[in-house]
Amino acid sequence: MRTLRFLPLVLWALGSVPGARALDYVTDILPIFDAKCFDCHSKREGVSKGSLQLDNLADMEEFYIGPYASMKPGKPGESDLVRYISDPADPDTMPPKGKGERLTAAEINLVKSWLAEGAKVHPEKPGPAVAGTVSPDFHSWRNADGREIKARFAGLSGQKVDLLLANGVKYSYPLEKLDPASQALARELAAR
Ligand code: HEC
Repeated sequence: MRTLRFLPLVLWALGSVPGARALDYVTDILPIFDAKCFDCHSKREGVSKGSLQLDNLADMEEFYIGPYASMKPGKPGESDLVRYISDPADPDTMPPKGKGERLTAAEINLVKSWLAEGAKVHPEKPGPAVAGTVSPDFHSWRNADGREIKARFAGLSGQKVDLLLANGVKYSYPLEKLDPASQALARELAAR
């Protein structure tokens, strides 16, 4: 099921570890999926079995990565994805039985590490391109479920509000899923 999730605090809390190179989804993980999963899950190849496209980063972030999604930031052990790729006997095993080459143990470990590091797909750093449009202040944002995060306001486009977390990750969040006060704040900041 495609559930929208609110901004996982864990992602936000995970700063970069000095000295350790964080795994990069595009350069470290996607090539593995490209070789073994793109026949069925790729925007580039124009296929989306189970509506999953592993190279559609915006979609990945919105629907497949999150506390209730199949890729749980910080929790490889609880992520369905890990079960699918690790256990050939699982009914949902990926690739499906007899339908492609399985990931090696080393590749599975890389995927687990990427999840453990927060499952980021495209952290967007505030750079010169957005400077000036991003408000320098951190505001508290609350969603309709009462969860709160601190983030900078980076714009309101259509019905989505762009929020920039302290670690540079940018989120587009549906305006109507914010509580009324946060919706009002987004409109007020957009009007400035
Ligand atoms: C031969 C085609 C095929 C290949 C190759 C394949 N998959 Fe799948 N995948 C499917 C199909 C079909 C589904 C939908 C299953 C369902 O809905 O019951 C699916 C579903 C999934 C899902 C669940 C999506 C959701 O809704 O949460 C994940 C995650 C996944 N695949 C990951 C992978 C990964 C990672 C690989 C590579 C190791 C891979 N798949 C390779 C066919 C494939």
